[in-house]
Amino acid sequence: MDEKYYQYTRGFFWKWASFYNFIALPLIGIRNKVADLVDEEYKDKTKILDVCTGTGTQAFAFAKKGYEVVGIDLSEEMLQVAKKKSKYGNVRFVMADATKMPFENDYFDCACISFGLHEMPHEVRHQVLDEMRRVSEKIIVVDYNIPKNRLHRWLHVSFASLYESKYYRDFAKRDLEELLREHDLKVVTEAYGLIDFVKILVCERESAGRKG
Ligand SMILES: C[S@@+](CC[C@H](N)C(=O)[O-])C[C@H]1O[C@@H](n2cnc3c(N)ncnc32)[C@H](O)[C@@H]1O
Repeated sequence: MDEKYYQYTRGFFWKWASFYNFIALPLIGIRNKVADLVDEEYKDKTKILDVCTGTGTQAFAFAKKGYEVVGIDLSEEMLQVAKKKSKYGNVRFVMADATKMPFENDYFDCACISFGLHEMPHEVRHQVLDEMRRVSEKIIVVDYNIPKNRLHRWLHVSFASLYESKYYRDFAKRDLEELLREHDLKVVTEAYGLIDFVKILVCERESAGRKG
């Protein structure tokens, strides 16, 4: 399964890379909102990891505020767009798999994943969250807010499935908060964007590892 997932994901984003920024334009306000949720206590000493960084838009929103930022992604093409667009000395991009991050425990003050969890099989989501909580105490998850109402959910899923990867439908069937609880991640701040199309969850580790 893993090899198929890597092949599929690289192929999928190879196709999307050149126009991803255009498609993701409506999300621009959310990037700043997410960056505002990071404590400004240490500012330039605060290290932020942007997991599944893609073309780096969220990483740039952090960099603009003066944080030291690393963005990781599997897709060479998405990272190339990010590198070309970067005008910040405090952000770097690394090609790396989020299930095996090349960083020491607790290296970062904050690890963020935006629109990444719906792009992977469920067992990979678990591995990525394990890694995120290994390298950082604070975790920010930004993703679709799947409506609870059946009709709204059906409309949402039917629309998003037109452009999303094959893993999105599985993500939409599940409960994101439950997944975070399974990793002993406590949601300390919850915010919404694009009315309530997108959910932003700021979490902290409650214990040493995943439950069960
Ligand atoms: C929808 S894009 C999101 C990009 C960006 N975070 C944003 O908010 O616009 C999802 C990204 O996740 C990356 N990705 C998926 N699985 C990954 C993994 N295991 N490790 C690193 N990146 C991964 C893809 O290559 C893609 O660039």
